[in-house]
Formats: sequence, structure tokens, C-alpha cells
Amino acid sequence: MKNAAGAILSSIKLDREAKTGMSVQLYLALREILLSGGLRAGERLPATRTLANETGVSRTTVIDAVDRLVSEGMLETRVGAGTFVTDSLEKQRPSMNVAPPESRNLPKPRVSYTISHANERFANRAWLPHRAGAFVTALPALDAFPMAHWSRISARHLRGDRSNVMGYGEPKGYAPLRRAIATHLRALKGISCDPEQIYITTGAQHAFSLIGRLFLNPGDKVWIENPGASGARNALLSEGADLVPVSVDSEGISVEEGLKKAPHFRLAFVTPSHQQPLGTLLSLARRFALLQAAEDAQAFVIEDDYDGEFYFGNSPQPALRSIDCNERVIYVGTFSKSLFPSLRLGFTVVPQRMVESFDRLFSYWVSGPPTVNQAIVADFMDEGHFSTHIRLMRRLYVARYETLLDASQSLQGAVEVQRTSGGFHTPAFVAPDVDEHKVVTQAAKENISLPPLSRYCLAPASQHGFVLGFGSATPDEIRHGIEVIRNLPEIRRKLA
Ligand SMILES: Cc1ncc(COP(=O)(O)O)c(C=O)c1O
Repeated sequence: MKNAAGAILSSIKLDREAKTGMSVQLYLALREILLSGGLRAGERLPATRTLANETGVSRTTVIDAVDRLVSEGMLETRVGAGTFVTDSLEKQRPSMNVAPPESRNLPKPRVSYTISHANERFANRAWLPHRAGAFVTALPALDAFPMAHWSRISARHLRGDRSNVMGYGEPKGYAPLRRAIATHLRALKGISCDPEQIYITTGAQHAFSLIGRLFLNPGDKVWIENPGASGARNALLSEGADLVPVSVDSEGISVEEGLKKAPHFRLAFVTPSHQQPLGTLLSLARRFALLQAAEDAQAFVIEDDYDGEFYFGNSPQPALRSIDCNERVIYVGTFSKSLFPSLRLGFTVVPQRMVESFDRLFSYWVSGPPTVNQAIVADFMDEGHFSTHIRLMRRLYVARYETLLDASQSLQGAVEVQRTSGGFHTPAFVAPDVDEHKVVTQAAKENISLPPLSRYCLAPASQHGFVLGFGSATPDEIRHGIEVIRNLPEIRRKLA
């Protein structure tokens, strides 16, 4: 081939071993040559026969690739004359940077003020584990999940009425699931609500984000427990919140401190049944004080009840929502702990007076979890598997917790494991002369996950230590994990 086009085209290399077909490879190679200006407007493409010979593919393959570029407007065929590069490719396209992407050094895009401001304040990115073991937090006992029931119900839905589970779902969530949740909450938490007040979300964090989107203007003050849940913190920051860290003591969030720091708050985020990560229960006096503060400020309280199903005593902790007479509490629940986190299934129960606003918010788009999963969970609950699973898991977590308490006796003097009334994680505090950071880094080298307490803090907290998750670890793994901690240089130094 003699012309420039021929020289360029002879540089096309096709890979016969690649999964991508020859025609697509040739199309992409030609397209890149055209976009990078290798062939100019008005230049003629070599004949398809020549191209086929040159690249070692069939003429049909070449014709497919060329036809695609013609339909995109980059090439045009002129009867009797051949195929040419169109004018529009050269005259109308924006100026192009033809350097390879890795060497372009383009400036980072400008992001919104809310996100850049939030990024500055993200002390820690959300860090959620996917591998079970000691002492991973946030993961339930995946090994004990009743997969047989799940698979049976799942198969039934996949074989059943397709329009029920394969079309766009109801924006606020699958009605039978909302009914099942209403029944469950009445029995477990004393929450009485109409299924119309329930909205299904892709997890609790999605719910926090939507609540923020509905109620916050940029810079609105939001009380947040310190230490507290990092997922909620990130979700609310991303919606423009000006987070006000409020200390937590043995009675839960200090309402007094919140009032001093930001009396005109818009939202407060709390975990009343099992404070994340300290595990304390919000006392009745504090509950009333918080509700009164919200009423006075015309604010709303987000109640995150992330692991309320797993209480160790005889009865569950009551929901703040159940004593809310002024419709100030927005309750949020999740199936991430009671079933499994990759389901991405959570819900929020909103006061009656908010239903219209939430309906409008949810009707803008359908972004909830797949309907088929919602249908499976609805049946799982209606058929009683959910309550059985919860009951069995409660027993299993008590056993794992007792193993942890027993094994961690050997750490006494260096680490004190806090008693907890439920859930499947608990904080452990290090002695004042033990370095939290050193313990966590030394443990990580031994493949033991110990999220430091500082990860949960927006403002410096008075206590140091780490969080021990015991839900997804077997008793042997728990005992081994404690042994590893006991042998960390920083702990050994203290125990010596
Ligand atoms: C305090 C708290 N709330 C809620 C959740 C659950 O979030 P999601 O439902 O988005 O998985 C977690 C997860 O670990 C959590 O720690």
C-alpha cells in the first residue's frame, strides 16, 4: 500500500486469541485512528479487499466494521468512488487530546462544594468488611444463614409471575414487604405504624442519605454521636450537613452538650438501643430530653436501630420511636445484620405527617433494591423463617460473646472488654499507657481486624481502644484472635 492511509492501517494489530471478536477489534482500531486525526477529512479509506488482506481478516469482517463507522457518521460511502472520512469528524469535533490517557495529566474535575467540603471532613472513609473472621465488625454469622429456605423461596419467585418481580417496582418498596416489616416492628419494638409509612431503601445508609436530602439545606446543623457511626456521618455530610459531634457517656448522647453546641439543630442522629460503637443504651431521661430538644428546635431525630433484633436479655430494647408523641422520630432499620449485608436492603419508618414529602421524594426515581429480593424477604418473614433465624442467631451471638469474654480475661491489665447487652460487637478499651494505633497496626500484620475507636470519632474522644466484632467468627477463631492480641508486642510489653 502506497498512501498515508495504507501506512497507518498497516499498523493495526488484531489479536486472534482475544475474547473480543475481529470485527469489533477492527472497528475500535479504525475509530481510534479517525478520532486521533490519523486520517483527515476527505481522505479515502483503502478498499475493503485491501484492508482485509492487510489485516488478515475476511472482507465481511471489514465491511461490518466500516458499516458501523458509516452509521456513526465518521465515514461516508460515495457510490463508485469508495469510502471517505467525513468533514464533520474534522470540523465539528471538539479539540482532542491525542496523548494516551495515562500521560494526559488532565486537571481533576471540579466537584460540588458539598462533596469537596465533605471530603475534607471525612476523617475516615466508610470501611465495611466482606471477609468473615475475628474480629471483623458489621458482619453477621454468614456460616449460619439458612440458605436452603432462601434458595427455595428465591427459586419460587424466579419461576413465578415475572411481572411481579421483574418490572419496575413500587417506588416506596414492595407492598408485602412493607406489611411484613410493620408486623415485625409491632411485635419486636412496640412500634405501631401503617405500611404506608414504611419506605424500602438500599440499606440504612441510603435511608440516612435520603433523609438528609429531604430535610437539609447546606450548612444545617446535625448532632451526631461522638464516637459514632461512620456510615451515617458520611451519608449526612454528603447531603450538606454541618456535623456537630456530641459526646456519649454511660446514658448515651449528651443532650446538654448538644444544646450548648447547636441549639438550633435540624437533625440529630442517634443509635438509642445499642450505641455504635460503645454499646450503651440511651436512658429514658435522655430519651425524653432528646425528644424535647427536637420539639423546641423543630428538629427531627434519626433513630438507627441497626442490630435491635439481637438482645441478650429477655426482651428487646424499646425504640425511641415508640415514645415519640410529637412525630419527631424517623426510624431506620436494616437487613444487613439480621440477614446479610450484600442484600442492600433497609427501610425507614416515617411519621404520618412526613408521608407526603417522602412519597414525593421516592417518586422522583426508582432506586430501591431489586424487587425480587424484596419479595424473597417478604415471604421469608411471612413464613416464619425470619423470626426463627433471629432466635437462633441471638443464641449463637450470646455463645460467641461469652467465648470472647472468657478468652479476653487473659488481656486484663492491658485491655478491658466492655460488657454489652446485645448485637455482635463490643468495644475494648486499652490501658492509658497502651498505644491504640500500635495495637491496631500490629494486629493487622497478623491478619486480625481491629477497627480503632478513633475511626468512629469526629472529635477526639476520651477513651482509646478498638472494636471487637464477634458475629462472624467461630469460637475457635475468637480464642485464637485473643491469643494473637495477647502476643502483640504492645500488649506483651504492658502485661510483662
Ligand atoms: C451504625 C450502623 N447502622 C447501620 C448499618 C447498616 O448499614 P447498611 O444497612 O447500609 O448496610 C451499619 C453497618 O455496619 C452500622 O454500623
